[in-house]
Amino acid sequence: MPADAAAKGVKLERYASGGALLLRRVASGKLVSASSHLLFRATVLATIALVFLFTLHYPSLLSRSFSLSSSSSSSSPTPLQHASHRSLLMSSSTPAASAASVYGSEKWQKEIKKSAKPRKADGGMSVLVTGAAGFVGTHCALALRARGDGVLGLDNFNSYYDPSLKRARQGVLAARGVVVLDADINDAPLLAALFEAVPFTHVLHLAAQAGVRYAMEAPQTYVASNVAGLVTVFEAAAKRADPQPAVVWASSSSVYGLNTESPFSEEHRTDRPASLYAATKKAGEAIAHTYNHIYGLSITGLRFFTVYGPWGRPDMAYFSFARAIVAGEPITLYADARRDFTYIDDVVRGCLGALDTAGKSTGSSSRSGKKTGPAPLRVYNLGNTSPVPVTRMVAILEKLLGKKANKRVIAMPSNGDVPFTHANVSHAAHDFGYRPTTSLDAGLRHFVDWFVEYYKLDTKVAKAARAGTDKKPTKKKAAAMSASS
Ligand SMILES: NC(=O)c1ccc[n+]([C@@H]2O[C@H](COP(=O)([O-])OP(=O)(O)OC[C@H]3O[C@@H](n4cnc5c(N)ncnc54)[C@H](O)[C@@H]3O)[C@@H](O)[C@H]2O)c1
Ligand SMILES: *[C@@H]1O[C@H](CO)[C@@H](O)[C@H](O)[C@H]1NC(C)=O
Repeated sequence: MPADAAAKGVKLERYASGGALLLRRVASGKLVSASSHLLFRATVLATIALVFLFTLHYPSLLSRSFSLSSSSSSSSPTPLQHASHRSLLMSSSTPAASAASVYGSEKWQKEIKKSAKPRKADGGMSVLVTGAAGFVGTHCALALRARGDGVLGLDNFNSYYDPSLKRARQGVLAARGVVVLDADINDAPLLAALFEAVPFTHVLHLAAQAGVRYAMEAPQTYVASNVAGLVTVFEAAAKRADPQPAVVWASSSSVYGLNTESPFSEEHRTDRPASLYAATKKAGEAIAHTYNHIYGLSITGLRFFTVYGPWGRPDMAYFSFARAIVAGEPITLYADARRDFTYIDDVVRGCLGALDTAGKSTGSSSRSGKKTGPAPLRVYNLGNTSPVPVTRMVAILEKLLGKKANKRVIAMPSNGDVPFTHANVSHAAHDFGYRPTTSLDAGLRHFVDWFVEYYKLDTKVAKAARAGTDKKPTKKKAAAMSASS
């Protein structure tokens, strides 16, 4: 019985008062005479019995409608509430998600169980992937599915960047039998219902508000997803799952902030974040310590370093630069900025390695989730170990797209970006054999191949992109691309 006692209470009250209203209407009707007093009593009893039965059979339905009504009654909804609102009210366009959208129904249970079920003869893991329609989430979900693990995805499909790209990724996953639910990580009753329905062995928690600069525009969305959302996920994993899963989640290289020692090592200082994004990830690492300490949750934080590749994020520099180059628009880059660009396949191998070596949680549901012994608490850099100047990244893109960029180079403003990143990955190498193998040239080639295909660029552009020659796209096609994205 996953639903909150409080939620249930409110819900029961509402149903009961609804019943009373109905009864009053019946009672005031002319047909109801004093002699039907018995009938009236029987109706009251039957109504109470029905409410009781309904509560027993559709706990998650009740809690869903509770979370819906509580957010709609709020006078000034936060972006977070908008997000969960949208995901609750809008029906999804893809068949897998719409079939799974009736929470708590038998059909819903069947869908999610099927998606989460491992297909290996010798067991395998069952993984809840949050942010599964995101860049890293989609790739990890596909890799897990490909090797026979069970995967259930969850994503709120927010519009921080083009949601149609998230829908397209969802389509790719659906074709492989992976369901991605339209849901917010702050929907605690839903998470409880999921842990009730499926014995997840692992949670790969990637849902977050990403982006360093956007944090100055929309600070509260970072708090909502990266702090409150993280707590909701840890709470559910600690108290609602039996047995508790191991949690692997995405921190960020940005926690190194103003650290100047290089390469960045997990032992270095992370108490000087340069952006609110970095601060929320740093807060997440502290929160992880608490849930490990009290509840014995096995928790692994992964500090990703500028991940790029096919199906990437349009808000990141390599992606937005590629679009601008094709469209003939100017780009602004920061002089002297260097990044430890890490190719997505290398990061995926790191994520799977972290999941495979996570170790068990030790909390027990008979002790309200509290630990019965120490559990693993780990943090790893997942980078490429070779920082590249951003100007060099642009030069590679120019070559692959067969077109010169219209560059404007400026000094780095103090907007939260740090001048350089460089990972020391010796811990990940030691503990799960993490070895990044993709150069920026090779990785960007894969990205551009996908980019040209996905946005259906002119075959001339495609050819130029493949050959890395000097052919130019037609103006018409470049404009079409920016319109469709
Ligand atoms: N890509 C990188 O270079 C990089 C670097 C460091 C850290 N990270 C971290 O890795 C993780 C994955 O990043 P990504 O690049 O795939 O980003 P992404 O934005 O593509 O993926 C995140 C997904 O989470 C979803 N989401 C956001 N808030 C949610 C919420 N409240 N409930 C449900 N879903 C929600 C989004 O819709 C999105 O699809 C994030 O935690 C990010 O902070 C990424
Ligand atoms: C990388 O980190 C390991 C472990 O902390 C350390 O022993 C090693 O010296 C570091 N390498 C460099 C180049 O700093």
